[in-house]
Amino acid sequence: MVQQSGTGVALTGCGSAIPAQVLSNHDLSQVVDTSDEWIADRTGIRQRRLADPTTSLSQLAVTAAQSAITMAGIQPIDIDLIILATSSPDDLFGTAAKVQAELGATRAAAFDLTAACSGFVFGLVNAAQFIRTGAYETVLLIGADMLSRWVDWDDRRTCVLFGDGAGAVVLQANEPDRLLGFELRSDGSLNRSLTLSAQPQPKVLTADVIAAQGSYQPIVMDGREVYRFAVQRVPEVIEKALHRAGYSIGQVDWLLLHQANQRILDAIAQRLKIPTEKVISNLANYGNTSAASIPLALDEAVRQGKIRPGDTIAASGFGAGLSWGATLFQWGR
Ligand code: ACO
Repeated sequence: MVQQSGTGVALTGCGSAIPAQVLSNHDLSQVVDTSDEWIADRTGIRQRRLADPTTSLSQLAVTAAQSAITMAGIQPIDIDLIILATSSPDDLFGTAAKVQAELGATRAAAFDLTAACSGFVFGLVNAAQFIRTGAYETVLLIGADMLSRWVDWDDRRTCVLFGDGAGAVVLQANEPDRLLGFELRSDGSLNRSLTLSAQPQPKVLTADVIAAQGSYQPIVMDGREVYRFAVQRVPEVIEKALHRAGYSIGQVDWLLLHQANQRILDAIAQRLKIPTEKVISNLANYGNTSAASIPLALDEAVRQGKIRPGDTIAASGFGAGLSWGATLFQWGR
C-alpha cells in the first residue's frame, strides 16, 4: 500500500464469467408470447445465459476476478480493495466480502456498490480515486449481476432483455495516468422508469406498531422512456468526458457501451458520428447483463485481440436510478 503520493491509474487485467445455461429467443417463445424475430429486431439479442439455482453471484464474480488477476500478473494478496458493482447480490448485506474470502485476498477491504447498469462505470471512477489519492495501489473491480432472479418471467416486455454474467478488471497505480476523463450523472426524478423496488408486507407487532417485512417486486420498466433517456443523455456524458480529457471523437478507438440493446448502441454511435466498426457489441449472445456488460464485452474484445494495449476506449454505463456515466481510458499500462 502506498500512503502518500497521488498517482495515475491503469487497467492491467480483465476477466469474465458466464453461467452454463443458454436460453435462446426460440426457447423464450415457449415461455411468453414472443418470437425470435421480434426480440432480434427490437433488441439485437439472440440468446442469454442464465444461472441455475445452484450458481451464486459470488461464484461468477470469483471466476471473472481470477482471470483478471492472472492477466494483471498479480496475486490475490496484492489487492488492497475489492469493489463489487451489483444490483443482485447473494446477500443484501453485501457479497464483496464473500468474494474477498473465496479469492484469498486477505489484505483487501471489500464492499458492494449499487448503481444498476451504470455500476461498472461508477465503480471504475470510485476505484480510481483510491489510487489517485495514494491510499491504495491495487483495486479489483467486479461488475456482476443475475437479473434473471428478479425479472417477471410472465412479462414479455422485460424478461426477454436480461441475462446473467460477471466481468472484472484490475486497476493499478501507474504513470502515466490512463484514466483520461469521466463524467457521472444521476436523476432520481426519473426513478420510476426502471425499478426493482421493495414491496414491504405489513407485520403487526403491537396495537401501535407495524413493521414492514422485506420482499421485492420484479423489475418494472418503461421501455420507451429508458430508450429516449439513453439515446439523449449518453452522448452528452461521453462528450463531457472527452472534453475533460482534451480528446476529440476522432481519437476514440472503441465505443464500449453498456450492452442494453443494439438499437440504443447504434443510435448513440450515430449521434456521436462513431463508425459501426468501432462499436463493441456482444449483446446478441448475452442480452443485458447489467453491471457485468461492460467488463464482459471488454474482456471478450481484449482476448480476441481487438482491443490492444494503448487503445483509447470511451465506455458508458446507463440505467436504473436513473444513473449514467462515461469514462475515457487507455487499455493497459
Ligand atoms: N415480444 C413480442 N411483442 C412484444 C414484446 C415481446 N417480447 N414486448 C413488447 N411487445 C409488444 C407490446 O406488447 C406492444 O404491443 P401492443 O402495441 O399490441 O401493445 C408492442 O410490442 C410495442 O411495445 P413497446 O413496449 O412500445 O415496444 P418498443 O418498440 O418500445 O420496444 C423495447 C421495447 C425493446 C424494450 C424498447 O423500448 C427498448 O429498447 N427500450 C430500452 C429499454 C432497455 O434497454 N432496458 C434495459 C434495461 S435498462 C438499461 O440497461 C439501460
